[in-house]
Amino acid sequence: MIKIWSDGAEAGLLDRYGERGSTFAYLPDRPATCAASVTMPVRLPSWSVPFGLLPIFDMNLPEGFLRERLRLAFAKATGTFDEFDLLSIVGRSQVGRIRFTGDKEQLEEDVPFQSVDEILAHQSGGELYGYLLERFARHSGISGVQPKILVRDETAFAAMDPAAQRLSQSYRGATHIVKLWDPNEYPQLAANEYFCLTAARKCGLEVPSFRLAEDGTALVIDRFDLRKDGMQRGFEDFCVLNARRSDEKYRGSYETQVMKRFAQFADSPHADDDREKLFTLLALNCAIRNGDAHLKNFGIVYDEVLGEARLAPVYDLVTTSVYLPQDGLALTLNGSTRWPTAKELRRLGETRCGLTAAKVRQVLERIAGAIAETAHEVKAYGKAHREFTEIGERMVREWEIGINTSLRGVGE
Ligand SMILES: Nc1ncnc2c1ncn2[C@@H]1O[C@H](COP(=O)(O)OP(=O)(O)OP(=O)(O)O)[C@@H](O)[C@H]1O
Ligand SMILES: [Mg+2]
Repeated sequence: MIKIWSDGAEAGLLDRYGERGSTFAYLPDRPATCAASVTMPVRLPSWSVPFGLLPIFDMNLPEGFLRERLRLAFAKATGTFDEFDLLSIVGRSQVGRIRFTGDKEQLEEDVPFQSVDEILAHQSGGELYGYLLERFARHSGISGVQPKILVRDETAFAAMDPAAQRLSQSYRGATHIVKLWDPNEYPQLAANEYFCLTAARKCGLEVPSFRLAEDGTALVIDRFDLRKDGMQRGFEDFCVLNARRSDEKYRGSYETQVMKRFAQFADSPHADDDREKLFTLLALNCAIRNGDAHLKNFGIVYDEVLGEARLAPVYDLVTTSVYLPQDGLALTLNGSTRWPTAKELRRLGETRCGLTAAKVRQVLERIAGAIAETAHEVKAYGKAHREFTEIGERMVREWEIGINTSLRGVGE
């Protein structure tokens, strides 16, 4: 049995159920603020699923590289290894406000220190990365296919407000995400993401601080779900908002599973502003040819589960078409996964995002300007880093096509 904690308080119990499913029940007398998800209010009847875990508990399970690594390390002890086993390992240290422990255990999060500066300055990563994965994998309750870990940087941790730390004795959580890559599979992926995030920031979107390692082999990102007092904000991705598990992240449309769902859950006086931001992000993804903008790459954040919910800051932007020339959209738009025309994006903005025609044009032009500006930085970096030159040139070419077809509708 696993105990679920929300905002540092005991919320309920989770157990295996039936052949392959699980069931969760809130403890008696829990206040409504203990809800594990905006989709799962506190109630007397339990919440059950016939397969795997409920979406909010499944949300942060490592998917690709990390999951396999943990399976190899822990399967020997348990014999088999399913989602429930994985959750009991990584559940103490997760993205968002939910934590998992054994049913008799108290909440204690103790991610070892690791200097982020050391990672950034390290040359030719191999050895350091092996060590990092070995040490931090079990503390990394974070989804995604690419290898990545959660680490606690001493300087950043010390800067948090200790007086306000409600759980200072038992809470020593991670401050940063370190994304690593297999260079043989996706060369220069860290630099690729670095410049895509740069473009997003220039569009006026909120992007957490991110830094590229000197040798280009890692990207270090500040957690956006961390508050000054050391507690975490709630975070839920669009798989959860659509009541789906992670393996269904490529199913659905931007119109319904993203825009409509966002309108349903974005409960704040800033909803119009956030809707414009979400439209900007969707259009940017098309223009930079990011074919991996699936349901787990968007989310909402909140301080209180019953309070305001805002669009989460931007993460995981990559020009995937430099690796997969035939790539298209991760979800459908207008019934298709083709890269959209400017006309289709304008229609999305006007009919689904409630923007005026003039506003939509202004947003698309702002994105085009931001990408063009970033392209100069890509070229300059490519001149100084020969190992990036070819990928950088391909990125710039993809971006030019993206701007012309999806933002400006040249030849429409
Ligand atoms: N700055 C951040 N702060 C908090 N959580 C984050 C941050 N960036 C990413 N996440 C969370 O970590 C998850 C994995 O990160 P990310 O999407 O960058 O990894 P990935 O391996 O590239 O993903 P994919 O499988 O989509 O390729 C995200 O889905 C999100 O839940
Ligand atoms: Mg992702």
